[in-house]
Amino acid sequence: MALNGRVAVVTGAALGIGKAITEILLQNGAKVVVLDVNETAGKSLKEDLDKQYGQERTLFLNCDVESQEQIKAAFQKTAETFGGIDILCNNAGILNESEWEKTVSVNLVRIYRCPPETFNPDVDRYNPHLTGLAPVLCCPVYTAAKHGVIGFTRAMAAVSAASGYGIRFNAICPGLVQTDLLSTILDRLGQFSHLADEIKKYAVMGVLNMSEVAECLLELVTDETKNGEALIVKPNIKKYMTFPTLIE
Ligand SMILES: NC(=O)c1ccc[n+]([C@@H]2O[C@H](COP(=O)([O-])OP(=O)(O)OC[C@H]3O[C@@H](n4cnc5c(N)ncnc54)[C@H](O)[C@@H]3O)[C@@H](O)[C@H]2O)c1
Repeated sequence: MALNGRVAVVTGAALGIGKAITEILLQNGAKVVVLDVNETAGKSLKEDLDKQYGQERTLFLNCDVESQEQIKAAFQKTAETFGGIDILCNNAGILNESEWEKTVSVNLVRIYRCPPETFNPDVDRYNPHLTGLAPVLCCPVYTAAKHGVIGFTRAMAAVSAASGYGIRFNAICPGLVQTDLLSTILDRLGQFSHLADEIKKYAVMGVLNMSEVAECLLELVTDETKNGEALIVKPNIKKYMTFPTLIE
């Protein structure tokens, strides 16, 4: 898929990995709608992007992925401003083992709240999910939510292929990435705080920077053969995961 002129929506895009994804999509010619609950960071990013790419290339909308109404309104505004959506990047995520229902809601349920019928019907479309595949010892709720995203991604890829939706669904599964989520993780382990040293052990193996994850997104978006894939990325490692099928 060539990105020039394509319309991308990125959730949780004001900071962290979402921001890096926004930047790589803009560098490759796409228009990007930045959705985030952090209005201050969203507006500040929009100002920076306007200076670099011009006002017409981006839109910031305050949108909580926990709210079906706000998502619907954001998709409607996207359609009015840029036309239909070509790329929907489900990136918004939180890690909070004390608030397990919210963690499942933001990381997993959010993807059901972004319905594929809002996509532009005339072209090849793409739906990447930011998730994780390794069990994180001190974060079982976060791990469960992220594994759910993998299952949904793979099942929807098969549904899309069988039903002729024309939408590709893939997942990016990074190791640790240097963002606010990681730098504040030790405060949000709840009843698993006694296992905090596990995070430090993972970190010794290396931490990715955000642009390395954004590069993976670019690879998956532009390679039209990729559907139902989970791309694992860690320092010096990049590999596609092999899963069992129903008949194996
Ligand atoms: N940082 C890591 O080590 C790492 C590793 C693997 C996967 N991930 C995943 O990558 C994604 C991005 O993580 P990050 O590290 O950039 O996090 P981050 O905390 O740095 O940024 C997350 C962004 O999402 C926004 N957000 C949070 N809740 C939201 C909501 N309800 N609605 C809309 N926006 C919301 C925040 O305001 C923020 O701008 C997440 O899904 C995360 O689980 C992160």
